[in-house]
Amino acid sequence: MIRQLSIIQTVFSILLMALMLNIQTASAQNTTPSLKETFKDDFFIGTAINAQQIQEKDSVVDNIIKQQFNAVTPENCMKAEIIEPSWNNFNFDLTDKLVAFASNNNIKVNAHNLIWHSQLPAFMYHMQSADSVKQYFEHHITTVASRYDGKVYSWDVVNEALNEDGTLRNSIFLQKLGDNYIVDAFRLAQKASPHSKLYYNDYNIEQPAKRAGAIALIKKIQTAGVRIDGVGIQGHWRYDNVPMLDIEKSIKEFSALGIEVMFTELDLGVLKNPWDNNTADVSATSKADSTMNPYKNGLPDSVAQKQAKAYADLFALFLKYKNVVSRITFWGVNDGESWLNGWPIPGRTNYPLLFDRNFQPKPAFYSVIATKQ
Ligand code: G3I
Repeated sequence: MIRQLSIIQTVFSILLMALMLNIQTASAQNTTPSLKETFKDDFFIGTAINAQQIQEKDSVVDNIIKQQFNAVTPENCMKAEIIEPSWNNFNFDLTDKLVAFASNNNIKVNAHNLIWHSQLPAFMYHMQSADSVKQYFEHHITTVASRYDGKVYSWDVVNEALNEDGTLRNSIFLQKLGDNYIVDAFRLAQKASPHSKLYYNDYNIEQPAKRAGAIALIKKIQTAGVRIDGVGIQGHWRYDNVPMLDIEKSIKEFSALGIEVMFTELDLGVLKNPWDNNTADVSATSKADSTMNPYKNGLPDSVAQKQAKAYADLFALFLKYKNVVSRITFWGVNDGESWLNGWPIPGRTNYPLLFDRNFQPKPAFYSVIATKQ
């Protein structure tokens, strides 16, 4: 009997401790400033959202998303291989949930994406004829874009179509459809989704040659009389290598075309990549290497402070151009779930975002908030 009582007591104290911890986390969240509130007069603040988060599996991250962000971009569930895994067989479940979640919480969805050379369904890799590719291209865009017309705020109509030198990437779409395929994608999206905005999205388009390619592309779409509402600069940079001057030039040059400018996949990683550049090409991978993983036991405060300064400099720039910069989206909520832990080298410990692995705001979070004070 005494033994049973002591077990009950132990279980009770564990439950009490868990409850206290939950209350503490909740109250910490209530006192944490909100990014979306702080920048509500300036631009939307977004995050990439993964399958677990769309399904609201974890209340801690769920609360953070609702408290901090007024825009979301699906990290994966709208990519072609997931939303149309086999020909004319669409899997809309997760995207329907995402749209409902966003609508219930007054959050805008940027749908990512309609046309991308990567993450294509397997059947696309066996396609030989231009006719089949054309059929897929028209049917995919029309089906997906019309289903979510007006339910999503915007589309990344075409993603990552450019090479670093500004020429068009030699994708299956360029090979089979010719160099007008991007204009055609926007034309189809405009027809299927007249009530959502249409964007071009890419990495490194702040760099001069690639930027010139993007500007030429946008002008081509405009000259064809087709709607394009904005351009997304992804923003996968390293904290000690943020190209501030090129970013500022890009904001000026892109906005001079009469379109919105957005930073759509922002993260400032702290680890070097083997090529020492800022690429975000998902196919550029390298082998596991423990010498390239210096912070596996924690981020030194000196690095966290430098990262905080880099984020603050960026947000000060975004605020300077708030009339043309319409959204800043982080590529993930916390450091633990960032794609940069697995790319380009698998199994590393990176720290690119504003919240740490325990969902606590980092120095970078507070430095971003402080740009408004
Ligand atoms: O869903 C499968 C799962 O079933 C399987 O067990 C697991 C095993 O590896 O893989 C899962 O799929 C992974 C998927 O992420 C979901 O976690 C893919 O392998 C993996 O390649 C995929 O990576 C995504 C990558 O794009 C490629 O689509 C990253 O999460 C995502 O952050 C990244 O996002 C891209 C943007 O869309 C475009 N710009 C660059 C950015 C970063 O690469």
